[in-house]
Amino acid sequence: MGPIGVFDSGYGGLTILEGIRSRLPQYDYIYLGDNARAPYGTRSFDVVYEFTLQAVKKLFSLGCPLIILGCNTASAKALRTIQQQYLPLFAPDRRVLGVIRPTAEAVGQISRTKHIGVLATEGTIKSESYKLEIEKLYPESTIVGQACPMWVSLVENNEFNRPGADYFIKDSLEKLLSQDPLIDTIILGCTHFPLLLDKIRRHIPQGIQVISQGNYIAASLEDYLTRHPEMSQRLTLGKSCQYFTSESPTKFRECASLFLQEDIEAKHIALA
Ligand code: DGL
Repeated sequence: MGPIGVFDSGYGGLTILEGIRSRLPQYDYIYLGDNARAPYGTRSFDVVYEFTLQAVKKLFSLGCPLIILGCNTASAKALRTIQQQYLPLFAPDRRVLGVIRPTAEAVGQISRTKHIGVLATEGTIKSESYKLEIEKLYPESTIVGQACPMWVSLVENNEFNRPGADYFIKDSLEKLLSQDPLIDTIILGCTHFPLLLDKIRRHIPQGIQVISQGNYIAASLEDYLTRHPEMSQRLTLGKSCQYFTSESPTKFRECASLFLQEDIEAKHIALA
């Protein structure tokens, strides 16, 4: 028995955690941010896998039977190998889930034209994970992606409400939309981007829907737990949430206030 673990490279996964906790408040949670080594978005497959596996092992050692990789980059680059190679050998009774598949399932129900744009880190876009997942589910769809190299930094450095942020937001959106004028739905395929939602909406034509992942990941997790009572029975029901970071807890606490409505305490944890 234990809490649900939510992992992210940094703070962004707090947007996923919030979505999950508001839909499934009854469970205990542990959030783990690898802030000391974030961002993951420009790192290689091997490094993202190694770092993500370290985090997964740590969350297992803290008692989590189930882990959500809130990070899109980790979901794109590490999830499959963890599910197919690590878990069967070393933790066959535990589960690790990601955020790309549930988002892909949701977007096919939302887009009318099936022309879909994905905004994400360079790593997620290069992996083509969204394109592959969506096309598997909805073969008639057209998917284009745009890496937004500055957006994570704008959020992490709390610069996103300044006028200068608009330049970078508009630039990446124009690059995305110029790839396919029929796009009717845009996925925010990075944990940090929901914080930019108001600004994003200002730079796209009305009628284009923008998908933030939190609610969809939460709905998908609820569905998973209904289909897997053997897992839901192993989750403790204390409504608590503990926060761990590989960086300074004081810094984590300050920055987390950008993402969460409540004041939190965090503890340091070493991952390597
Ligand atoms: N959490 C990452 C993601 O969702 C963004 C931040 C990073 O690059 O580490 O892709």
